[in-house]
Parts: sequence; C-alpha cells; structure tokens
Amino acid sequence: MKVLSVVGARPQFVKLAPVAAAFAAAGVEHVIAHTGQHYDVLMSEAFFSDLRIPDPDVHLGVGSGTHGVQTGSMLAALEGVLDTHRPDWTLVYGDTNSTLAGTLAAVKLHLPVAHLEAGLRSFNRRMPEEHNRVLTDHAADLLLAPTEVAMGHLATEGLSGRARLVGDVMTDVCFLVRDAVAGASPQLPAGIDPTAPYVVATIHRADNTDDPARLDAIVKALSAVPVPVALLAHPRLRARAAEGGIDLARGSVHVTDPLPYPALVRAVLGAAGVVTDSGGLQKEAFLLGVPCTTVRTETEWTETLEDGWNVLAADLAGLDTLAVRPAPSGTRAEPFGDGHAAERVAEILQA
Ligand code: UD1
Repeated sequence: MKVLSVVGARPQFVKLAPVAAAFAAAGVEHVIAHTGQHYDVLMSEAFFSDLRIPDPDVHLGVGSGTHGVQTGSMLAALEGVLDTHRPDWTLVYGDTNSTLAGTLAAVKLHLPVAHLEAGLRSFNRRMPEEHNRVLTDHAADLLLAPTEVAMGHLATEGLSGRARLVGDVMTDVCFLVRDAVAGASPQLPAGIDPTAPYVVATIHRADNTDDPARLDAIVKALSAVPVPVALLAHPRLRARAAEGGIDLARGSVHVTDPLPYPALVRAVLGAAGVVTDSGGLQKEAFLLGVPCTTVRTETEWTETLEDGWNVLAADLAGLDTLAVRPAPSGTRAEPFGDGHAAERVAEILQA
C-alpha cells in the first residue's frame, strides 16, 4: 500500500514524525511531499532532523504569499505530484493551507483522501484554519479524529459515517520526546535562569500580530509578568513588530528564535506557565502538566479548559498573574489518547 503525506507547516512536521515511524514499522510505502509553506531552517529542516523524519521525496518550494496565491500554487503543483504517484491514500494533516491544497488536488483526481486531526472546530470563521479544516473534512473520504469532542463535531455535520477515533498523534510524539529530554537543561534566551521560575510564550496568529495596537497591548501584558518570559518569536511576529515599530524585548520579555521541537518540550517542562495563541502548544502544555494562558477568544482543544489547565484571555485582563498561576490540583484527564494514535492510523489505512 502506498500513502502520500502532504505537509508544509511546522505543526505538520511534528504530526508526521510518529506517522512516518508507524508506516515504516508496518511496511507501508510512504511518499512525503513538502509544499514549502514553511522554509526557514528553524521552521522546517530542524524538525525533520530532530524528529528523525525521512527527507521529503518531493519539495515544492512554494513559500509565503496571500492565502489564495499560496494555496493555489500548492494545488497546481500537487496535482502533478499526485498524478505521478497515484497513492492508495493521500494523507493530509491538520488545518493549514497545505492541508486544503492537498485535499483539493487529490479529490479532483478521484484519489482517496484521509484527514488526520479531523473534526476540530473553533467556530470562528475569521480563522483561515477554520475554513481549511471544515472544507477538508467535507471533502475527505476518511476522517481520523483525535478526540471524542472532534467525533461529536463530525456527527453534528453528518460526517460520522467516514469518521474514526484514533487519538492524537501529537500525544505520541510529545510523550516520546518528553522522556528523551527529561535529563537535559532548558535552552532559554540569555538572561533567563532555567532553575528559577520562567514563562514560555508564543504569539503568531494574524488576529494578534497584524494590528499594531493589539500586538503592542499583548507585548505590554507580557512585559508585566512577574517572572522572565521567553518569547519564541515566529517570523511573522518579528516582521509585524518591526513594521509597527513595536519593541518586543520589554520588561520581562526576552526574545529568541522558535525552538526546535525537543528544546521546546524541554523548555515547557521546566516552565511555570505558557502563554500562547498556538493550538499545538496549548495541548503540549496540558500534556506536560504546565498551566496555559491562551490569547484567543476560543480554542479548538476545549478539553484543555477543564479544571483550569488552560484559560482563555483574549482581553489580556490579568494576564500577568494568570501566566504564573499555580497548576490545578488533582489528576488531569487524558482526553488526547494513549500515545499510540499513529499505529492506529497505519492499521486503519491498511484495512
Ligand atoms: C501557518 C498555519 C497555522 C499554523 C502555523 C504554525 C495556515 C493558514 N496557517 O501559519 O495554522 O499554526 O503555520 O507556525 O496555513 N514565514 C517565514 N518563514 C517561514 C514561514 C513563514 O518568514 O518559514 C513568514 C512569512 O512572512 C509568512 C508568514 O510568516 O508570510 C506567515 O507564514 P504562513 O505559512 O502564511 O502562515 P503561519 O502564520 O506560519
């Protein structure tokens, strides 16, 4: 059996890692097509080497652009790739423009599509990811859902017949990497003592970065956190801050580049709190037992909100104290699977 994975953006490389390993173990022929949506070394190559993912078989080098230009360029290029390989399954991951392009290209060639991380919803139609995931779920033939909540959303939309609960592949990789890095020291920006309390922060969504007043308010709130804040700056954040004349390194904030995945997991493991607008990092904080404050009005990962492990703080009120609140007492639920989701994906695709 031949599966062609379409990936392009940082969180997809993380999801690809356990899937590629499970395919190799199951003897599945696996073709990896990288759209090139992310291209900086720290946003792309570092993940392939650190997570021991085989090099992509195809690299489209599409790069950045407006949503239409970027998605359209990938769609045009992927059509030829899929027609050449004629896989038994085209596997798309998550909710990026690469996901939607891979889905459309395959569907129009009448090639079966499986969507990994199906059924997530923010119900916020301003988010490009929401368009991508809704359209992908309705076009795909097989919906591989990470959680019961996701299965519920698919049922509401009449898609239960195509849906299978597999668990979350990000749990697989997060737990493996957590165990591998436990003995290492966190790699933090100069000026932050890794043995004293600190907060890890990431901000990259357009709603938070593209309005200079909004971005300034977020940085101001971070600057008032009572412990040092390691701000892992996505290229979009740096670019928008420079354009808006906004100084990121203020007060408590220490700016550094995005971290490779193992270093990110190590940094979060040692942190007093996480502040983010990333979907993946909210869940990683939950899995690693670190309180998270999410700078958004809603989250797709609603399970993380239970017991207060994750708190939504789009209005930034009290962010400085929320960021260092103590971890909730009691045991955490385990809504994101048992760390064997990728094996289930391989089994289901082969069935
Ligand atoms: C994309 C995904 C988002 C995911 C995020 C993870 C979509 C719609 N969004 O958002 O769901 O959470 O990836 O990081 O697909 N840039 C670089 N170098 C890179 C990549 C990007 O400089 O390697 C800069 C460019 O200025 C680019 C901007 O970042 O225009 C945004 O990149 P893009 O891939 O369009 O979206 P992300 O914000 O990364």
